[in-house]
Amino acid sequence: MKNWIEFPRVEGETSRQAHADLPEGAYEREIGRDGFFGPAAHIYHRHPPTGWIRFEGPLKPRAFNAVAAAQPTAEPYRGAQLLSNPFCRIALWKVSEPMTRLERNADGDVLLFTHQGEGDFFCDFGHMTYREGDYILLPRGTMWRLEPKAPTAMLLIEATNGSYRLPDRGPLGAHAVFDPAALETPKLDAAFRAQRDGEWQVEVKRRGQITTITYPYNPLDAIGWKGNLSAVKLNWRDIRPVTSHRYHLPPSVHSTFIADRFVVCTFVPRPIESDPGALKVPFFHSNDDFDEVIFYHAGDFFSRDNIKPGMMTFHPAGFTHGPHPKAFAAGVKAAKTMTDEVAVMIDARDALDMGEGALSQEDTGYADSWKMK
Ligand SMILES: [Fe+2]
Repeated sequence: MKNWIEFPRVEGETSRQAHADLPEGAYEREIGRDGFFGPAAHIYHRHPPTGWIRFEGPLKPRAFNAVAAAQPTAEPYRGAQLLSNPFCRIALWKVSEPMTRLERNADGDVLLFTHQGEGDFFCDFGHMTYREGDYILLPRGTMWRLEPKAPTAMLLIEATNGSYRLPDRGPLGAHAVFDPAALETPKLDAAFRAQRDGEWQVEVKRRGQITTITYPYNPLDAIGWKGNLSAVKLNWRDIRPVTSHRYHLPPSVHSTFIADRFVVCTFVPRPIESDPGALKVPFFHSNDDFDEVIFYHAGDFFSRDNIKPGMMTFHPAGFTHGPHPKAFAAGVKAAKTMTDEVAVMIDARDALDMGEGALSQEDTGYADSWKMK
């Protein structure tokens, strides 16, 4: 027997519908299990749940400039370490010059998100170009390299000992959010055939350690391939967000890739709720089973103050958070009708540790940024 206790109860003054028509002047907080999918309660508070005046100890919201933390290197595993746990490793990697060796990650699937730059991507399955806003998903063990045409900065998210899948679309149907046909796969084209031959090295990462294997020829020499496993590319511009004009949907509706112990969601521009009673900013929440990470790629981040593209925020499980006071006030006034933000969210079931890169570029005053000015 493993059923959750399931009973909606109502006590005191509440709204009938979560995130809409709140009692006058109340602040709604969702306490949720299983990342917005499990049992949840909505508590209607007299004070904003982020109205703390001091925040001391190791459990704190963190913010840092992820892009500033990295130095260019042709070795992706030497990117700036931002956050990690045994199932997920997040780094910021910059590369400016063509990679002269091939890479292979034997530790798990790798998801790249292109924050800046463009160029050519070569792998076992062929050639693709890449540009700003592209995700490239590399199945575990794929041999690959990049030839940047412009300095490139990528977020690198390793599903350590795991794999990425697509989210269940449920009643939305198989072609909602993005059509699987929008996933681009590499081609065995002229650029692929024109690669340099001669001696090549492959760097294999396994258990975090590098082994170098040398071949007297270029091992990216496929004349054909078949099957249902490949590197794939998806640009955020191919994502068509699900929204409701009357209800602020939870971030899980923006899921893009699902790993065994974490999810990757993409926030893309979308209309803000227009119904007068609907909440227009993310609700205050205690997502008590997940650590939450957001990488800010482009635009104006509607629920956060003083957050610029290239920054990352990290909200460990265990405390309530929500929109900054300025954003909350703008939401109440319905000042904006569209968001123009593009951001990558990573929600992890297991506690993440800050890496050297994150610590080197931390905004140590972030926990104070919710204070009413
Ligand atoms: Fe959150």
